Amino acid sequence: ASRKLIIPTSRPGVSFVVVRPTDVPTYVQYGAADAGVAGKDILLEHGGEGLYQPLDLGIGRCRLVVAAKRSYDWAGTIQRGARIRVATKYVKTAREHFAAKGMHVDLIKLYGSMELAPLVGLADAIVDVVSTGNTLKANGLRAVEEIMGVSSHLIVNPASLKLKRAALAPLIERLRAASHG
Ligand code: PRP
Repeated sequence: ASRKLIIPTSRPGVSFVVVRPTDVPTYVQYGAADAGVAGKDILLEHGGEGLYQPLDLGIGRCRLVVAAKRSYDWAGTIQRGARIRVATKYVKTAREHFAAKGMHVDLIKLYGSMELAPLVGLADAIVDVVSTGNTLKANGLRAVEEIMGVSSHLIVNPASLKLKRAALAPLIERLRAASHG
């Protein structure tokens, strides 16, 4: 209900900060937040430098996939070794995925609505997260490759863990118990 970006809790000394998903690792890396929750997709794209990642919370599960129009001959295009244009906000992850497969791709950075790109000829394929598959289906797309499974992870600033261990260690353990329970 509020536009405030710092939300107090009933626990003294503990508050939440509201940031964009892609910014969560950055806030924690620099110690502006002691801990955060970020998807594996975001962590991989960020690189994970300066982050302690103690726990897979097992929530927010989805998949990072390559998707193309139903009518697009993905297998044939790969076999021919043709250059493929891929639109994504996961540029680093996509580059590493296709490089590992020895595929030549031109990457186009987007910030959202990736599913539109193949429909209007901006790209042959996209790399994006898929949960129910409804968005792909509604736009006549299909997953042609799976890159990895994604879920939310707890991330902690290593210096915060040392300096505020009394507060952070029990939090990590309680979240571990809750996510494995
Ligand atoms: C994600 C993703 C897809 C959609 C997939 O977008 O980019 O558009 O969810 O979900 P589905 O398979 O259940 O249809 P999100 O709503 O997270 O917004 P974003 O574009 O800001 O990433």
